[in-house]
Amino acid sequence: MTTPHDRIDGRPDRRASGAEPEPGVRPAPEPPRRLPEFDFAAYRSTELRSPRQPLVIPPSGATEPTGPVFGVADVHPLDADLTAQHVGEPLGERIVVGGRVLDESGRPLRGQLVELWQANAAGRYPHKADRHPAPLDPNFTGAGRCLTDEEGRYRFVTIKPGAYPWGNHHNAWRPAHIHFSLFGTAFTQRLVTQMYFPGDPLFAYDPIFNSVRDERARRRMIAGFDMDTTVSEWALGYRWDIVLGGASATPTEDR
Ligand SMILES: [Fe+2]
Repeated sequence: MTTPHDRIDGRPDRRASGAEPEPGVRPAPEPPRRLPEFDFAAYRSTELRSPRQPLVIPPSGATEPTGPVFGVADVHPLDADLTAQHVGEPLGERIVVGGRVLDESGRPLRGQLVELWQANAAGRYPHKADRHPAPLDPNFTGAGRCLTDEEGRYRFVTIKPGAYPWGNHHNAWRPAHIHFSLFGTAFTQRLVTQMYFPGDPLFAYDPIFNSVRDERARRRMIAGFDMDTTVSEWALGYRWDIVLGGASATPTEDR
């Protein structure tokens, strides 16, 4: 029988409480696992890089209030159009990705720096460590940024990324995804997550996607096709709201 503490490979979760409950004593219900597991056996590299000691939070110092922050002057409107950063247009399916950044109460977070990075349409990053034998696109860097507006909205024009192999196990392919960063008001608040596309057949095979063990939380990482975001005769649109905190929080890779 599996329990919430079981890992998908059947091994016990090393970070589970460990202590068995007293006979006849019902253990407290496990809260939904909305965040990715730090140590998730199917995602092999987490074995070595997941923390073995409890989190230590240092006291706040001058760094937080005085550290660099981004403002309107630092972000150019064209930074949000990944199809307009080079001489020519990149290859692939042009898309619009937009949504709102909200706090746990559903209030818009204004002026937030939203950054994204992604593979090109062939599933290749322009990085020396990416050895996937798929073509680079000289017209696509795959990075962009923008600030949320008064309603917490962000909007990017980009190319739909391709799936790519990642060597985690035999025939391991990442579903198409876009990495997102929410900066907050200081480096120490930065949150990183990934957005997926609806209906991807690779979801069931991806340990990174499935390291978020709560199904409803996983669904919150999947954008929805959105006709209101779609631009006639030009690009399909996807909507993805990012909720920072609370029961409906978008899973992030930090906590
Ligand atoms: Fe990626």
